[in-house]
Amino acid sequence: MVLKDWIRVSLSDHKNTIDEGMCGISGCITEGRAVAGILYRSLKRLEYRGYDSAGMATISNGKLYVKKDQGKIDEVNERLNFNEMPGSIGIAHTRWATHGAPSKVNAHPHVDCSGMLAVVHNGVIENFMELKRELLDLNHRFVSKTDTEVVAHLLEENLKRGGDFLSAFINAIKRLDGSYALAAVYVKEPDKILVARQDMPILIGVGDGSMFVASDAAAFIEETNRAVVLQNGEVAVITAKSYDIYRVKDGTKVARSPIVLDWTVEMAEKQGFPHYTLKEIFEQPLTLKSALRLQDAYVDLLTEFLDRGERIFLLAAGTSYHACLAASYMFSKLARLTTFPVVASEFVDNYGHSIDIDTVILAVSQSGETADVLSALEFARLRAATILGITNVVGSTLTRVSRAYLLQNAGPEIGVAATKTFTSQLIVLAQLALRLAKKRGKVAQYEMDEFRDRLYEIPDIVSRVLDEVKVPVQGLAKKYAGEKFFMFLGRGISTATAFEGRLKVMELSYIPCIAYAAGESKHGPISLVEEGTPAFFVCPNDSTRKAILGNIEEMKARGARIITVGSKDDEELMEISDDYIGMPDVHELLSPIVYVLPFQLLAYYLAVEKGLDPDKPRNLAKSVTVL
Ligand code: M6R
Repeated sequence: MVLKDWIRVSLSDHKNTIDEGMCGISGCITEGRAVAGILYRSLKRLEYRGYDSAGMATISNGKLYVKKDQGKIDEVNERLNFNEMPGSIGIAHTRWATHGAPSKVNAHPHVDCSGMLAVVHNGVIENFMELKRELLDLNHRFVSKTDTEVVAHLLEENLKRGGDFLSAFINAIKRLDGSYALAAVYVKEPDKILVARQDMPILIGVGDGSMFVASDAAAFIEETNRAVVLQNGEVAVITAKSYDIYRVKDGTKVARSPIVLDWTVEMAEKQGFPHYTLKEIFEQPLTLKSALRLQDAYVDLLTEFLDRGERIFLLAAGTSYHACLAASYMFSKLARLTTFPVVASEFVDNYGHSIDIDTVILAVSQSGETADVLSALEFARLRAATILGITNVVGSTLTRVSRAYLLQNAGPEIGVAATKTFTSQLIVLAQLALRLAKKRGKVAQYEMDEFRDRLYEIPDIVSRVLDEVKVPVQGLAKKYAGEKFFMFLGRGISTATAFEGRLKVMELSYIPCIAYAAGESKHGPISLVEEGTPAFFVCPNDSTRKAILGNIEEMKARGARIITVGSKDDEELMEISDDYIGMPDVHELLSPIVYVLPFQLLAYYLAVEKGLDPDKPRNLAKSVTVL
């Protein structure tokens, strides 16, 4: 290629590519049953992974059919009607761009020059430029700005040189640097889907006369609950009746039986609620109960590692970070253990120099795939730190990099905003704190017993609170939906509740919010208060109550409207508040699990009031797999 061409490729492509970081892929092959409908439903289930464009490829009678476009899955389907696509084999994709505009040409599947094969991908092919230059020199024609398209042309090139689809696929995979979950189909071998995995999740769903592949089991759970997790460095050949897994490195066959997922179809559906987010908020009594059923041996194992560590970091992002913040109070107050909650993206800069073999990192990540978390863990792992995990996703990367991990057992969370997974993280962390307290023996037995009793009451309390506060919170949402700004304040462990309340309201209603430890008011934030500024206070009847009353008075004196979430019986608080949500008394260290509920509902109802989609807040994706 002449230099001019090289510059054209590199400049144009650098601006627009490396954009496949957060997507959902799926595939299905059956013994004669049409797959288009199945794939369409699977895409809907994967929509939380990305929803700026969607596409599907099927094979029928020696011909490849491809439909794709920009837009949410339903919008694309309305225009293109996926259901019409013929064939009993197909792959599909839902995309969320991180760089470059979503567009029809950039949507997946991507095809080769001859239109004989199609590929869907989640991840980033880091060396795509080098491959693209090589393929352009071989006269391949590229139509998109994506890194993924090189895989289609690489496969085509390998097939031209002889050999079957699998060997062409393995040889292509060997050339790729970066991360990928890939699925490919080829008209000349219409009896198989080939998949590969490196650092991006992919599961094989094992059905009866039909097989599936997907980024997430939610995609095929209505067809089968038997799943095989593909590991890094593996490819699989999937036919309508079988799956064979091979290691890319040496071609050896890997035997792996399916695991049975106890996620029901109902768990992945809305169950009559208008939105997933509301369904998931109301699911919390159940998810909390199931998170109370941890396997003792693993709790002990994590306790052992945490107790041995010299420096303990609680590492996470977003909502999971708020769970870590709350946990740092639990560990300190109940187990007398100092831990450092840290936002994953700041970890290396802040603490990188002091990580060593005596460091223990407890990473908390609902998805287990958050890139900021995984990259911080990789840094720490290379310095011999012990990595522990808490996650909601079996087979996620976090489960693979952790020395030991606990599962939240909350079932799939489709709403982009974390709700049920936050409270399940908290209850898992509370159990760890209790076990650590027992091991370290620094608090009285009666305190531990009391904590334990109160812990097991939580699911019922949550159930009652949800019923009681739903209507009053709806009223608050109506009243405050037109506001331009909110403040959220708490003290002690309720600081974490205030932070999480702010994040929920902000991400679902788009109303700018700030949150801080109420004691900080006088150090600056109080200057924002003017007549009518709505200030939400988290004020359980605990050791922080007296101090926060003072903070409320400070705000009130400057004209703030006070909205308090506090104890049902606290008449003094009710008196000084403009609006009040009454809550039952709970153990101080468990209060975030209960006190966050009105804020989750508020966020949801504010979004509804404002005509927004609470399940899919703009600019956000469920699983943030890019740095
Ligand atoms: O899957 P993770 O728990 O690692 O995700 C962390 C954050 O991306 C996530 O909590 C995010 O902040 C959500 N938007 C919260 O609702």
